[in-house]
Amino acid sequence: MTIGILGEAELPIVSMVPDTAARLKKAEHRVFIEEGAGLAAGFPDRLYAEVATLKSRSALLMESDIILSVQVPSLADLAQIRPDATLITNTEIYANSDALKAFEGFSFTVLSMDEIPRTSLAQSMDVLSSMASLSGYRAVLEASTLFTRYFPMMITAAGSIKPAKVLVLGAGVAGLQAIATAKRLGAQVEAFDVRSAVKEEVQSLGARFVEVPGAKEDGAAGGYAVEQSADYLARQKEEVQRRAVQSDIIIATAQIRGKRAPLLITEETIQSMRPGSVVVDLAASTGGNCAYTQDGKCIEVNGVHILGNSRLAYSMRQDASLLYGNNVYHFLTHYLKQAEQSSLMQDEICRAVRVHPKIEP
Ligand code: NAI
Repeated sequence: MTIGILGEAELPIVSMVPDTAARLKKAEHRVFIEEGAGLAAGFPDRLYAEVATLKSRSALLMESDIILSVQVPSLADLAQIRPDATLITNTEIYANSDALKAFEGFSFTVLSMDEIPRTSLAQSMDVLSSMASLSGYRAVLEASTLFTRYFPMMITAAGSIKPAKVLVLGAGVAGLQAIATAKRLGAQVEAFDVRSAVKEEVQSLGARFVEVPGAKEDGAAGGYAVEQSADYLARQKEEVQRRAVQSDIIIATAQIRGKRAPLLITEETIQSMRPGSVVVDLAASTGGNCAYTQDGKCIEVNGVHILGNSRLAYSMRQDASLLYGNNVYHFLTHYLKQAEQSSLMQDEICRAVRVHPKIEP
């Protein structure tokens, strides 16, 4: 197969780093890389020299059997892809039902990495987990630079400093990484989630699990959280408000796949927080967990900094590229094996990622 690594127009990451591309070459694939594709992520062309052939964007689009890109390329790019080729990208259809319109009229196959099922078998291919983990880590570092106090308890000759109090809302992949990072920095951490299954994970990281009884859970939701009743949300808001006013830092990560993120931090909550407190909202792109969140912006309300950013993973550009590319490599190896055995349509992972052309039921 000829596999092309396309440059990203808007992101500072690349869909495969040189070491991972070398594994494709070793498996006897031909690898193309768009000129300059890895530069922003810290991987200039010379690092790909031994494993890939440099191509212009157009040549790569026209000559590759499989094209790798993190974001969906432009319409002009799509028009250059061969009908028998396969594009492996992220369509974000779970958040935008119109996302597939871009492919109307094209015959090439589109596989969306963000549709990989959250199963044990597919763990090594799970780009959502890789990116969420980076985001959770980075969220705490961003909070620490906005925060004007220490994280750990300090006993100095000039006096004692109390440890920072961190509240993590949503203990999924990002939330658990945020808890672990805040603990490592020496903060006192508590966390809240509607899925009772995470209680033990939160506690095993040394954080306190905040419980609001009566949450609705649905085993058929693939491990994802589901929307809660009005009564539950009202009780939850009260509890979050109580905890938030005692916190110095809130890392908000609560999301419901395909829906607006739950609003957990109201304007009133922010007004009652101490000046100097920080909120980092990773759910910003799906509406935010905080009423004041603006996606991609850091604002200050009543002395409280509120940073809204769902793309923090990409600021860790080298590791984001490394992990993303490894996930793609594992997926591609699995996909090509299934294709060889003519079992693409029987395989759970391969069926789940195929978003275009639609699979007939
Ligand atoms: P996510 O990004 O969709 O949501 C983040 C967290 O917010 C979740 O833990 C969710 O329960 C929580 N949340 C939603 N509404 C809330 C509310 N009103 N209040 C408080 N918290 C709320 O979740 P993520 O991190 O993508 O994980 C989704 C699921 O997939 C989890 O069950 C996770 O354990 C599972 N998973 C399984 C994997 C595997 O087996 N390979 C790999 C990664 C994740």
